[in-house]
Formats: sequence, structure tokens, C-alpha cells
Amino acid sequence: MQPHEQTPPLALVIFGASGDLTARKILPALADLAERGRLSDRFTVIGVARTEWSDEEFRKVALQDASAGGERWRALVERFRYVPGEYASTQTFDRLKEVLAEADQQYGTQGNRVYYLATIPSVFAMVAEALAKEGCNVPGEGGQFARLVVEKPYGRDLQSALDLDAAVHRAFDEDQIFRIDHYMGKETVQNVLALRFANAIFEPIWNRRYVEQVQITVAESLGVEHRGGFYETAGALRDIVQNHVMQVLSLTLMEPPTGMDATHIRDEKVKLLKAVDIPTPDEAVDKSVRGQYAAGVVDQSPVPAYRQEEGVAPDSQTETYVALRLRVENWRWAGVPVYVRTGKRLPARVTEVALQFHRVPFLAFEGELARQLRPNTLVLRIQPDEGISLHFGAKVPGEEFRVQSVSMDFLYETAFKERESDGYPRLLHDAMCGDATLFIRTDEVEQAWRIVDPYLEAWSEPGGGGLHLYPAGTWGPQIADLLLERSGDAWRVPQA
Ligand code: BG6
Repeated sequence: MQPHEQTPPLALVIFGASGDLTARKILPALADLAERGRLSDRFTVIGVARTEWSDEEFRKVALQDASAGGERWRALVERFRYVPGEYASTQTFDRLKEVLAEADQQYGTQGNRVYYLATIPSVFAMVAEALAKEGCNVPGEGGQFARLVVEKPYGRDLQSALDLDAAVHRAFDEDQIFRIDHYMGKETVQNVLALRFANAIFEPIWNRRYVEQVQITVAESLGVEHRGGFYETAGALRDIVQNHVMQVLSLTLMEPPTGMDATHIRDEKVKLLKAVDIPTPDEAVDKSVRGQYAAGVVDQSPVPAYRQEEGVAPDSQTETYVALRLRVENWRWAGVPVYVRTGKRLPARVTEVALQFHRVPFLAFEGELARQLRPNTLVLRIQPDEGISLHFGAKVPGEEFRVQSVSMDFLYETAFKERESDGYPRLLHDAMCGDATLFIRTDEVEQAWRIVDPYLEAWSEPGGGGLHLYPAGTWGPQIADLLLERSGDAWRVPQA
């Protein structure tokens, strides 16, 4: 993970240029990079999509979508090109090839290309193969690289991910492929590495001898918004657990890497994922809870049930909440339960990792407060209010010797002024500079699917686990408490 100042000269080709992701994430990220001087002077963007736009129309949209961009962004947008066409048509790719050659001539992009697949997933393989057929999977004349950036979802189960990979690998080598998980671009997710491996005091206690349980929470207060149609085909396990949760989990629990580069870090992440226990179908039902939000109240406003959302079937069985009890079977973590949960329409938007430590072997203090003392807990808060908190017991002032739980808090906002946005500028910049450290390697994707596949299979069987409704604005179905109660544990209530 080297800091790169400016990207090399290149043309960024965005497939799905008229779509939602381009508008919400990619163009604003580019504007951000442009304004911070992180893009080469010999850089341009070529949009490709089915919408019949001209260069001019694409430029206009780019200015609207990234309205925060200033002078530099406006100058860059002047160079944007647009290729309308079907992804199944050779003409589209013939035209793209011409426009790429023109970009090399006009803007000095030097034959370097980064292709960004921001389309619907069903055309990922088709576009990759069409690029290879046109010879676009290698750099243009005088160029040094041709890379492919792929968005999630990468498959919808292990088999479809393997099929997709086989197709993409027919067109591009693994070291040309950059699979995005935007959580890896979040500063605080990367900070897990800094906390663990730049400090001497945490690593000695980062194991089963000291840690009693781990909880990972990815909670959202939003519902499915306007993505009901897509979400119906996904559900919380595919949408969040297979990717974002597995990324956070592997960084938190992996062994120390011997280097901070793409190979070492990803090797350790995969090794950890391979240690996550893969349940039998019966165990999968026993160790998971699926939920779906019913109507309720979020932020003091009434909100509809999932089944009433646009694009959602009135009898939908899709889960908007999932909780799992995982095991990591290696020397470091054997016997430490790892609880993960994610859900939409929970009371707050909060992502955090909590390591709860063993209690003291004998409590010499008396009184109710002492008995209520919570175990020491280290909370890595990924969003919002990014930071780290350590909970411990302290003496209450006064003559009596009373102890109470308090916390010591580090807040990113207070310590650092500069903050990155949602991870996209960082990831886009890394892909353009060829740094794959924060991208997901093929074996990681596969292993993550191996972990979640048994749940998908078990749930699809008749009577497989059931779907529990929870009122919007609550912490999910109550039955999820049982996953922890069996071991005398309880879910943390993250501070909103
Ligand atoms: C996306 C999911 O990957 O992550 C969305 O598809 C979810 O359903 C989003 O809302 C959450 O991202 P963030 O950055 O807001 O935590």
C-alpha cells in the first residue's frame, strides 16, 4: 500500500455510464480526485451504455452528478467521450476501439486502459469477453496496462461465482482484475490494520486467551430505497455478509502479514477465511436467524414494511436481516464465538467490530454496580463517528469503593482533519495506479461464497430456518438473541 500522488496517463472506460452507480459513486469520486490533483494531465473518461447520449449529453450529466467538482473537474469533463450501444453488439466495441485510439492521439493516454464494469452483473462476462475479442484486454500501442475493475455482486453463490470467474479469466489474467468491495476503501476498515500491526499492546491480547467473543455489526436505518427489485434477488446474506462482513472479519482476525502489499495481505485474509467453519445444513439452520422488516418507526417517522416497498413481492421471503454464529478454527480463535449481524431498517446506521474480553477471574468488589460491570470491550467503530473505544471499570468518586463501566474514546474526527469520503476515490485511484491490495482476489471471493453457501442452501429447503418479521426501527427479530443466550452472551447495543 504505497501512497501514489498522480495516476499514470490512461483512459478510464466506464460500462454502465448512464447508470445509478456511475452517477452516485464513480463520477463524484473522479471529481474528488480531479480536484485534489490526483489524476494525470493525460487522462480521460469514455462512457459506454445503452442510453443514446452524445458526448455532450454525457458531459452535462457528469457535471450535474458531481456538482461539487470545481474548475479542474469542469476542464476534465470537456474531454469526456461517450459510446452508445448494446453490450452484445460488436459495433459497440469497434466504436470503443476507435474512440480509445482517438483518446491516445488527442489526450496522450498512451495506450493505457482501465475498464470499469458498473453494469448489471448479468453482462459482466459478456463485456469482458467482447473486450478480449477486440484485443482490448491488452494495452493499446505503446501502453503498459489494461485492467478490469469489477463491481459487486460477484456471483450469487459459489457456482455462479466460479462460472463468472472462468469467463472473466478467459479474457483477463488475475493480475489485471480489480474486484471492488467498497468497505475496503473505508479509512476505518484499513485502520484495523494500523491498530493491530502498528502497535505492540494489542496483538498479545488478540486471541482466545483474552478474547471471549467477537461481534460484527453492520446496521442500516435505511430500507431498500428504490432497489427493491434488485434486493429481491439478493437478500442481506448476499448483499452484505458475503462481501463487506467477510472483509471486515478477515482483517480483524487474520494473522499478522509479513508485508503490507497485495500478496501478503490477501494471503492472510484467505488463510483466515479458510479457517471459518463451514456448517452442515442442520448446523446452518441452527446457527443463523433470518429476518424481514415489518412496518415500524425509524427516526420518529413511520416507515412501510419491506413487502410494501416498490418492486418487492407482497409475500416476499427475502431476508433484510441476518445473524450468524461463526467459528474460526485455528490456534488463535478456537472456541471464541464470532457473532455477525446485519440488517436494514434497524434503529441506527452503525458498523462496528467489538472484541469482548474475558471477565476477571474473581471479583473482589461488592455491590450491585460491581456485579453489573461489563467485561472489557474494545470497539472499532467503522461508521459513523469513526473511532475506537475501550470500555473498562473505574472507581466512582466518593468514600465508598464502587466500580462502574466507563469508556476511553478515540475519535477520528478530533485527531485528523482530512477525511476521505465513502472509499470510492481511494479504490478508483488504487486501481488506476495498479495497487491491488484493497481489492478482492479470486480465492477470497470463492472462500467467502463457500462460507455463506450452506446458509443459502439450508434456507431454501422447506422449513429451513424460517423468516422472522421485526418491526422497522428495532434491533431485528428477538429470536436472534437466542443465538447468543445459549452461551450466556448478549448482543451489544451500539450507541447511535
Ligand atoms: C452496498 C449494499 O454494498 O452497501 C447496500 O448493496 C448497502 O444495500 C451499502 O446499503 C452499505 O454501504 P455503506 O457504505 O453505506 O455502509
